[in-house]
Amino acid sequence: VAAGMITGPALRDGGAVWQPTRVGREDRAAKGGTVWLTGLSGAGKSTIAVEVERRLIAEGHAAYLLDGDNLRHGLNSDLSFSAADRTENVRRVGEVAKLFADAGIVAVVSMISPYREDRERARAAHEAAGLPFVEVFVDTPIEVCEARDPKGLYARARAGEITGFTGVDDPYEAPESPDLVLNPTQEDTEALAERVVDLLTRQR
Ligand code: PPS
Repeated sequence: VAAGMITGPALRDGGAVWQPTRVGREDRAAKGGTVWLTGLSGAGKSTIAVEVERRLIAEGHAAYLLDGDNLRHGLNSDLSFSAADRTENVRRVGEVAKLFADAGIVAVVSMISPYREDRERARAAHEAAGLPFVEVFVDTPIEVCEARDPKGLYARARAGEITGFTGVDDPYEAPESPDLVLNPTQEDTEALAERVVDLLTRQR
Protein backbone atom coordinates (compact mmCIF):
# COMPACT_ATOMS: atom_id res chain seq x y z
CA VAL A 1 0.00 0.00 0.00
CA ALA A 2 1.48 3.31 -1.05
CA ALA A 3 1.95 6.13 1.48
CA GLY A 4 -0.94 8.56 1.55
CA MET A 5 -3.42 5.90 0.49
CA ILE A 6 -6.46 5.63 2.71
CA THR A 7 -6.95 2.19 4.18
CA GLY A 8 -9.16 0.78 6.88
CA PRO A 9 -12.71 1.84 7.64
CA ALA A 10 -14.18 4.72 5.67
CA LEU A 11 -14.01 8.05 7.51
CA ARG A 12 -17.29 9.78 8.12
CA ASP A 13 -17.70 13.55 8.39
CA GLY A 14 -21.12 15.13 8.51
CA GLY A 15 -22.58 12.18 6.65
CA ALA A 16 -20.04 12.29 3.84
CA VAL A 17 -18.03 9.11 3.44
CA TRP A 18 -14.37 9.33 2.46
CA GLN A 19 -13.90 7.29 -0.70
CA PRO A 20 -10.59 5.44 -0.85
CA THR A 21 -8.55 5.81 -4.04
CA ARG A 22 -6.13 3.44 -5.75
CA VAL A 23 -3.41 6.00 -6.48
CA GLY A 24 -0.95 6.79 -3.71
CA ARG A 25 1.64 9.57 -3.55
CA GLU A 26 4.43 7.21 -4.66
CA ASP A 27 2.48 6.44 -7.82
CA ARG A 28 2.58 10.05 -8.97
CA ALA A 29 5.40 11.29 -11.15
CA ALA A 30 6.08 14.54 -9.30
CA LYS A 31 6.21 15.64 -5.68
CA GLY A 32 4.11 18.68 -4.86
CA GLY A 33 4.02 21.15 -2.02
CA THR A 34 2.80 24.59 -1.08
CA VAL A 35 4.67 27.86 -0.84
CA TRP A 36 2.56 30.44 1.00
CA LEU A 37 3.35 34.13 0.60
CA THR A 38 1.80 36.37 3.24
CA GLY A 39 2.11 40.12 3.73
CA LEU A 40 0.31 43.44 3.55
CA SER A 41 -1.58 44.73 0.52
CA GLY A 42 0.98 46.24 -1.83
CA ALA A 43 3.88 44.34 -0.20
CA GLY A 44 4.83 42.75 -3.52
CA LYS A 45 3.53 39.22 -2.87
CA SER A 46 1.96 38.75 -6.29
CA THR A 47 5.00 40.05 -8.17
CA ILE A 48 7.23 37.55 -6.38
CA ALA A 49 4.68 34.73 -6.72
CA VAL A 50 4.41 35.28 -10.48
CA GLU A 51 8.19 35.02 -10.82
CA VAL A 52 8.36 31.93 -8.56
CA GLU A 53 5.75 30.18 -10.71
CA ARG A 54 7.55 31.20 -13.93
CA ARG A 55 10.88 29.87 -12.64
CA LEU A 56 9.46 26.57 -11.45
CA ILE A 57 7.77 25.96 -14.81
CA ALA A 58 10.96 26.96 -16.68
CA GLU A 59 12.84 24.39 -14.58
CA GLY A 60 10.39 21.70 -15.59
CA HIS A 61 8.32 21.50 -12.42
CA ALA A 62 4.55 21.57 -12.24
CA ALA A 63 3.49 24.77 -10.50
CA TYR A 64 0.31 26.80 -10.23
CA LEU A 65 -0.30 30.27 -8.84
CA LEU A 66 -3.20 30.71 -6.43
CA ASP A 67 -3.56 34.47 -6.05
CA GLY A 68 -5.99 35.70 -3.39
CA ASP A 69 -7.11 38.68 -5.46
CA ASN A 70 -7.79 36.50 -8.52
CA LEU A 71 -9.57 33.74 -6.58
CA ARG A 72 -11.97 36.36 -5.22
CA HIS A 73 -13.32 36.61 -8.80
CA GLY A 74 -14.39 32.95 -8.82
CA LEU A 75 -14.01 30.38 -6.04
CA ASN A 76 -14.22 33.06 -3.34
CA SER A 77 -16.53 35.57 -5.04
CA ASP A 78 -19.05 35.16 -2.22
CA LEU A 79 -16.61 36.36 0.45
CA SER A 80 -16.12 39.85 1.91
CA PHE A 81 -13.21 41.19 3.95
CA SER A 82 -14.87 40.57 7.33
CA ALA A 83 -12.77 38.58 9.78
CA ALA A 84 -14.94 35.48 9.34
CA ASP A 85 -14.80 35.70 5.54
CA ARG A 86 -11.04 36.21 5.49
CA THR A 87 -10.73 33.09 7.64
CA GLU A 88 -12.96 31.19 5.22
CA ASN A 89 -10.99 32.60 2.26
CA VAL A 90 -7.73 31.31 3.73
CA ARG A 91 -9.30 27.96 4.68
CA ARG A 92 -10.54 27.38 1.13
CA VAL A 93 -7.29 28.35 -0.52
CA GLY A 94 -5.41 26.19 1.98
CA GLU A 95 -7.56 23.21 1.00
CA VAL A 96 -7.16 23.90 -2.72
CA ALA A 97 -3.39 24.27 -2.30
CA LYS A 98 -3.32 20.96 -0.43
CA LEU A 99 -5.14 19.27 -3.33
CA PHE A 100 -2.64 20.70 -5.82
CA ALA A 101 0.25 19.60 -3.61
CA ASP A 102 -1.21 16.12 -3.29
CA ALA A 103 -1.58 15.99 -7.08
CA GLY A 104 2.17 16.61 -7.44
CA ILE A 105 2.02 20.33 -8.22
CA VAL A 106 3.71 23.19 -6.37
CA ALA A 107 0.93 25.55 -5.29
CA VAL A 108 2.21 29.11 -5.09
CA VAL A 109 -0.22 30.93 -2.81
CA SER A 110 -0.26 34.72 -2.63
CA MET A 111 -2.73 36.26 -0.23
CA ILE A 112 -2.65 38.71 2.66
CA SER A 113 -3.84 35.94 4.99
CA PRO A 114 -3.62 38.35 7.91
CA TYR A 115 -4.45 36.03 10.79
CA ARG A 116 -1.72 33.78 12.20
CA GLU A 117 -4.09 31.05 13.32
CA ASP A 118 -5.56 30.67 9.81
CA ARG A 119 -2.12 30.27 8.24
CA GLU A 120 -1.14 27.81 10.97
CA ARG A 121 -4.24 25.76 10.17
CA ALA A 122 -3.20 25.57 6.51
CA ARG A 123 0.28 24.46 7.55
CA ALA A 124 -1.09 21.85 9.96
CA ALA A 125 -3.38 20.43 7.27
CA HIS A 126 -0.42 20.01 4.93
CA GLU A 127 1.79 18.49 7.60
CA ALA A 128 -0.92 16.04 8.64
CA ALA A 129 -1.08 14.91 5.02
CA GLY A 130 2.72 14.64 4.77
CA LEU A 131 2.95 17.51 2.28
CA PRO A 132 5.64 20.23 2.34
CA PHE A 133 4.48 23.72 3.37
CA VAL A 134 6.73 26.76 3.26
CA GLU A 135 5.59 30.04 4.81
CA VAL A 136 7.18 33.12 3.25
CA PHE A 137 6.75 36.50 4.91
CA VAL A 138 6.94 39.37 2.43
CA ASP A 139 8.07 41.91 5.00
CA THR A 140 7.49 45.26 3.32
CA PRO A 141 6.88 48.00 5.93
CA ILE A 142 3.42 49.54 5.81
CA GLU A 143 4.92 52.98 5.11
CA VAL A 144 6.39 51.60 1.88
CA CYS A 145 3.16 49.78 0.89
CA GLU A 146 1.20 52.93 1.56
CA ALA A 147 3.60 55.15 -0.38
CA ARG A 148 3.34 52.77 -3.36
CA ASP A 149 -0.43 52.31 -3.04
CA PRO A 150 -0.73 50.77 -6.53
CA LYS A 151 -4.54 50.49 -6.37
CA GLY A 152 -5.16 53.65 -4.33
CA LEU A 153 -6.71 51.54 -1.58
CA TYR A 154 -4.65 52.89 1.34
CA ALA A 155 -5.71 56.42 0.40
CA ARG A 156 -9.33 55.32 0.29
CA ALA A 157 -8.96 53.52 3.63
CA ARG A 158 -7.38 56.59 5.26
CA ALA A 159 -10.23 58.70 3.87
CA GLY A 160 -12.73 56.32 5.48
CA GLU A 161 -14.13 55.17 2.13
CA ILE A 162 -13.04 51.58 2.85
CA THR A 163 -13.33 50.19 6.36
CA GLY A 164 -11.58 47.11 7.72
CA PHE A 165 -8.49 47.59 5.55
CA THR A 166 -5.52 45.47 6.57
CA GLY A 167 -2.86 47.50 8.38
CA VAL A 168 -5.12 50.56 8.67
CA ASP A 169 -8.12 49.45 10.73
CA ASP A 170 -7.85 45.66 10.49
CA PRO A 171 -4.94 43.68 11.96
CA TYR A 172 -2.04 42.03 10.17
CA GLU A 173 -0.41 39.39 12.37
CA ALA A 174 3.12 38.88 11.09
CA PRO A 175 4.44 35.30 11.15
CA GLU A 176 6.38 34.42 14.29
CA SER A 177 8.57 31.78 12.71
CA PRO A 178 8.30 31.98 8.92
CA ASP A 179 10.43 29.64 6.83
CA LEU A 180 11.69 32.64 4.87
CA VAL A 181 11.53 36.43 5.20
CA LEU A 182 11.77 38.54 2.05
CA ASN A 183 12.53 42.26 1.93
CA PRO A 184 11.47 43.71 -1.43
CA THR A 185 12.98 47.05 -0.41
CA GLN A 186 16.43 45.45 -0.32
CA GLU A 187 16.43 42.93 -3.19
CA ASP A 188 14.87 42.75 -6.65
CA THR A 189 12.11 40.34 -7.64
CA GLU A 190 14.46 37.91 -9.43
CA ALA A 191 16.70 37.54 -6.37
CA LEU A 192 13.72 37.11 -4.03
CA ALA A 193 12.08 34.50 -6.26
CA GLU A 194 15.37 32.63 -6.48
CA ARG A 195 15.51 32.43 -2.67
CA VAL A 196 12.03 30.92 -2.60
CA VAL A 197 12.85 28.36 -5.28
CA ASP A 198 16.14 27.46 -3.53
CA LEU A 199 14.29 26.85 -0.27
CA LEU A 200 11.68 24.72 -2.02
CA THR A 201 14.39 22.67 -3.70
CA ARG A 202 16.05 22.00 -0.34
CA GLN A 203 12.73 20.94 1.23
CA ARG A 204 11.61 18.54 -1.51
S1 PPS B 1 -7.28 38.14 2.69
O1 PPS B 1 -7.15 39.08 3.82
O2 PPS B 1 -6.21 37.11 2.68
O3 PPS B 1 -8.61 37.51 2.67
O4 PPS B 1 -7.12 39.04 1.37
P1 PPS B 1 -6.85 38.57 -0.15
O5 PPS B 1 -7.83 37.54 -0.57
O6 PPS B 1 -5.41 38.26 -0.31
O7 PPS B 1 -7.20 39.87 -0.98
C1 PPS B 1 -6.42 41.02 -0.79
C2 PPS B 1 -6.67 42.06 -1.92
O8 PPS B 1 -7.97 42.60 -1.83
C3 PPS B 1 -7.95 44.02 -1.95
N1 PPS B 1 -8.72 44.54 -0.81
C4 PPS B 1 -8.40 44.52 0.50
N2 PPS B 1 -7.29 44.13 1.16
C5 PPS B 1 -7.30 44.23 2.51
N3 PPS B 1 -8.31 44.73 3.24
C6 PPS B 1 -9.45 45.15 2.61
N4 PPS B 1 -10.46 45.64 3.33
C7 PPS B 1 -9.51 45.05 1.19
N5 PPS B 1 -10.46 45.37 0.28
C8 PPS B 1 -9.97 45.05 -0.93
C9 PPS B 1 -6.52 44.45 -2.02
O9 PPS B 1 -6.34 44.90 -3.34
C10 PPS B 1 -5.69 43.20 -1.79
O10 PPS B 1 -4.76 43.03 -2.83
P2 PPS B 1 -3.18 42.84 -2.65
O11 PPS B 1 -2.78 42.13 -3.88
O12 PPS B 1 -2.88 42.04 -1.42
O13 PPS B 1 -2.64 44.21 -2.60
